[in-house]
Amino acid sequence: MNIQEIIAKKRDRQELSKEEIEYFVTNYTNGTISDYQAAALTMAIYINGMTEEETTNLTLAMAHSGDILDLSEFGVVVDKHSTGGIGDKVTLILAPIIASLGIPVAKMSGRGLGYTGGTIDKLEAIPGYCTNITIEEFRKNVGEIGISLMGQTLNLAPADKKLYALRDTIAATESIPLISSSIMSKKIAAGANKIVLDVTCGSGAFMKDLSQAVKLAETMKKIGELAQKETVCVITSMEEPLGEAVGNSLEVVEAVQALQGNMAEDVREVVLTLGAYMMKLAGKGNDIEGNKQEMLTQIQNGKALKKLKELIQMQGGDISYIENVDLLSKAKYVMPVLATKHGYIRSLEAKSVGEISMHLGAGRERKEDAIDPAVGIVLKKKIGDYVEENEVLAYIHANNEEKGKEAVKLLEACYEIAEEKIEKKSCILKVL
Ligand code: URA
Repeated sequence: MNIQEIIAKKRDRQELSKEEIEYFVTNYTNGTISDYQAAALTMAIYINGMTEEETTNLTLAMAHSGDILDLSEFGVVVDKHSTGGIGDKVTLILAPIIASLGIPVAKMSGRGLGYTGGTIDKLEAIPGYCTNITIEEFRKNVGEIGISLMGQTLNLAPADKKLYALRDTIAATESIPLISSSIMSKKIAAGANKIVLDVTCGSGAFMKDLSQAVKLAETMKKIGELAQKETVCVITSMEEPLGEAVGNSLEVVEAVQALQGNMAEDVREVVLTLGAYMMKLAGKGNDIEGNKQEMLTQIQNGKALKKLKELIQMQGGDISYIENVDLLSKAKYVMPVLATKHGYIRSLEAKSVGEISMHLGAGRERKEDAIDPAVGIVLKKKIGDYVEENEVLAYIHANNEEKGKEAVKLLEACYEIAEEKIEKKSCILKVL
């Protein structure tokens, strides 16, 4: 077997065998297959697709490219993952709520890349919080306080680490077999027994329309079943950014306010729906609406916020920044973006908002770039809202005046304002 033959087969739209897929994954992970050969095969997969069987074999080979965590000592562990978005602070809010209900949360999160954000960068906006912990510390934290959130520092699905970074550099991210195998290999390796997936759909997501998102969800659900991990997919809209804040410290502030009971409607819908299914999978109740009420109670009685503080303290973070979010690092310039006319917001393109935030320094243009935790965007108006001429649409938080001014102009252009009334829509598009 050799890689040239495997590339040629996929180039010519033939199906790869289990052995060929395993050969590729093993030898790419250990460095025998070069990046340019892997890029050629990845692009052939991107263009010609994979059958269900090929996708499953790719997922399993990637999952077994490193360690597989055994979390059985914690009973039923439900994991959650998003296919990526803008302003997605869901894990920061949802994980402590779920842990406060006595359901263990042992989660590895990712960093942002390109225009999408990552939970790890947001957690690192809290001074002292350590995302780079050992597996022993991870287990100890879950055992003692029922929650740990860490980065992908362990040897889990290393094939995905390499392939994901490669895909980003060759414009091969938006592919159902590649996304499914990337996410499900990590979930299988991370040891949870049940999985809830937030499959985003819209301009700020990899899947731009509902039929593609459904196809991605069905593929991941099937892989989950084959791996004996019950999987629920919630398809959510990423047509506009989620909530108000886009940027690391700004999103931590929004998450803390949400846990204090002040949650934007779209964030609330996504957090409660994902959480209600996590509770169902954990055997804590089949009544989805009842589960949502229980989650809200954990916010009202302060237990969810208390759990977030316990988590931060346990991982070395300074909780005074949570008790007083004004202490978190702030940008030098806060510049308003004003409406050029009155009317209803018809669209607010999520991908462009993510790109503006990334150029301000909240995300990485290249993998090695440093993040500026203070910068980003706060959206005061979203789709369906009415604005007067010259009313504030959003605020740009910048540390560089020129970049800030440019961002003001670019964000102004992201808002489409119409005369006719626009109805606000639910962000929950489908549950599978
Ligand atoms: N998130 C992942 O982990 N992988 C993808 O391919 C897309 C989103």
